[in-house]
Amino acid sequence: MAQVTVIVPTYNERDNVAELVARAAAALAGRDAEILFVDDSTDDTALEVGRVAADAPLPVRVIHRDDNTGGLGGAVVAGLKAAASDICIVMDGDLQHPPELLPALLDRHDEGDADVVAASRYIGGGDTSGLGTAVRFGVSRAATWLTKAMFPIRLARSTDPMTGFFLVDRSRLDLATLKPQGFKILLEILARTDLRIAEVPMEFAERRHGTSKASMRQGATFVAHLARLRFGKMSLFALIGVIGAVVNLGIMWLLVEAGIPYVWAAIIGAEATIVGNFLLQERFVFADMRTDARGIGIRFLTSFAFNNAEAALRIPVMALMVETWHISSVLATGLSLIVAFFARFLFHSLVVYAP
Ligand code: GDD
Ligand code: MN
Repeated sequence: MAQVTVIVPTYNERDNVAELVARAAAALAGRDAEILFVDDSTDDTALEVGRVAADAPLPVRVIHRDDNTGGLGGAVVAGLKAAASDICIVMDGDLQHPPELLPALLDRHDEGDADVVAASRYIGGGDTSGLGTAVRFGVSRAATWLTKAMFPIRLARSTDPMTGFFLVDRSRLDLATLKPQGFKILLEILARTDLRIAEVPMEFAERRHGTSKASMRQGATFVAHLARLRFGKMSLFALIGVIGAVVNLGIMWLLVEAGIPYVWAAIIGAEATIVGNFLLQERFVFADMRTDARGIGIRFLTSFAFNNAEAALRIPVMALMVETWHISSVLATGLSLIVAFFARFLFHSLVVYAP
């Protein structure tokens, strides 16, 4: 068994492969190591890995995936499963993570008191110049702060839970507990397990070639990932419900202002919200529960039918509650919304996204 597997997730990093392999091989000289690329590229990165592997001084493998399941996080988990050794080091493929740091991670792990060793941009000797603009730096710091505030105990010893450069001892990790939808796989590991972490400082470099895949969409995915980790699916479902209610009122207000009769404004607002909520839930809440058994069309129709039935039933049920229990209509509205929330959540997890 190799002593260490270096896992490199890649998405269109062709021009960085040769330098990465050369520098990693030099840094790992004398150790029994392999490099494993997990590639979701649409360019010929995988071919380039094959070319470079042919004259590399250590084994270099590539897994090319066509479905991009789970994005970056999914790629890392696929790499952890396929690695030849239990000691795995995950690093980016764009040379923002200096391969020269590989021995420091291994040496720190050899001290024996940690299952995870992370390369941190925020401890002594670390450096964040590669983050680029002040805006990106600010966003990164704020996200780190928010994340640490949400997991005060599990992240107590981590200064940089979002780093993508870390060693993990796979034998200490139950891969089945990871839900690899997130961009931030280290955070997933630290938040869901009680692995012990140590850190070494790193200088975060500028990307060598190509462009970053960070985006607004990834930002949204990250916030959803945090909410799911911290409060579970139901909280995220509730958050989307609240956003939907506000949007619903906004649409109604706009339509009524534009002279559309109130009833039509209410119907259009409600239907638009039902569709919007479905799309958000599909993407952010139930992404890991989608199966091939039922396509998105069926899921949508089931969800749409349920929500319309529920909306249509709520008013008569409220009237019934007011009459039989002699409670105020405000209380009846509140109660019916709470019941509707749980009913909706249960219906979606047990029926729409049934395994
Ligand atoms: N296989 C695979 N699939 N690899 C991906 C995907 C994907 O969907 N998306 C991105 N990658 C690879 C990139 O090719 C690169 O090697 C690495 O993941 C990081 O992606 P970048 O596009 O360079 O993102 P970044 O520089 O903004 O993010 C990095 O910094 C963050 C900390 O600021 C990553 O290291 C993150 O993991 C890290 O948390
Ligand atoms: Mn990068």
